[in-house]
Amino acid sequence: MFISFEGTEGVGKTTLIQKLHQHFQQKGIDVVLTREPGGTPLAEQIRSLLLSVNHDEKMANDTELLLMYAARAQHLENVIIPALNAGKVVLCDRFSDSSFAYQCAGRGLSPEKLQLLNQNFVSKMPDITFWLDAPIELGMTRARERGALDRFEQEKVSFFEKVRSGFEHIQQNEPQRMKRLDATQLPEKVFTDALSHLQSLD
Ligand code: TYD
Repeated sequence: MFISFEGTEGVGKTTLIQKLHQHFQQKGIDVVLTREPGGTPLAEQIRSLLLSVNHDEKMANDTELLLMYAARAQHLENVIIPALNAGKVVLCDRFSDSSFAYQCAGRGLSPEKLQLLNQNFVSKMPDITFWLDAPIELGMTRARERGALDRFEQEKVSFFEKVRSGFEHIQQNEPQRMKRLDATQLPEKVFTDALSHLQSLD
C-alpha cells in the first residue's frame, strides 16, 4: 500500500507519519518511511537545490516543476516501486499532489504541464492520500517556530491560500483517494481519524 501525506506548512504531517509508522511496525508490517522532494541520495541533492534560498538568481517556475519531477523519477524508480513490489507499505511525506498545489495552484503553472509529467513519469499514484488541513496562519506560526525558513516557507500567506485551494480542488475531484483530515485537532485524534480511513480500505 502506498500512502501519501499532503498539506501546507506546519500542519503536523511529520507527527501523523511517525504515529502511523509506529502503528504498522507494531503490527509487524514492513514499512518504508520516505519524503519528497528527496528520499534517495540524488533526490535529496535535488531537494537542497529546491529549498535553498539563493538571492542571486530567482528559480524559474518551470525549473522548480522539472526539478520536483526529476527527484520524483529517481525516488519512484529506486525506492517507491521496489518497496511496493516487495509488499511493503510506503509512507510518503508529500507526492505529486504537492506539485499541483504548489506549482500549479500556487505558482500559476498550467495543469496541462503537470498532466504531461504525471502521464509520462509517474507510474504509480498513492492508494490513499491524507490531506492535513489547517488555517494557513496556524501552520506558518509553527513553521516559524522551527527555525530558519526555506525558500517555500518564505512565501506570503496569499501564496499558501492558493496552495490550500489546490489541495481542496484535488480532494473534490478525487474524494475516494484523498481524505481531508482536520489538522486543528489534537494529534491523537488526527491519527485515529487517519486509521479509520485505512480500516475502511480493508
Ligand atoms: P517539506 O519538507 O514536506 O516541507 P514542510 O515540512 O514545511 O511541509 O517539503 C518541502 C517543500 O517543497 C514544501 O514547502 C512544499 C514543496 N513542494 C513543492 O512545491 N512541490 C512538490 O511537488 C513537493 C513534493 C514539495
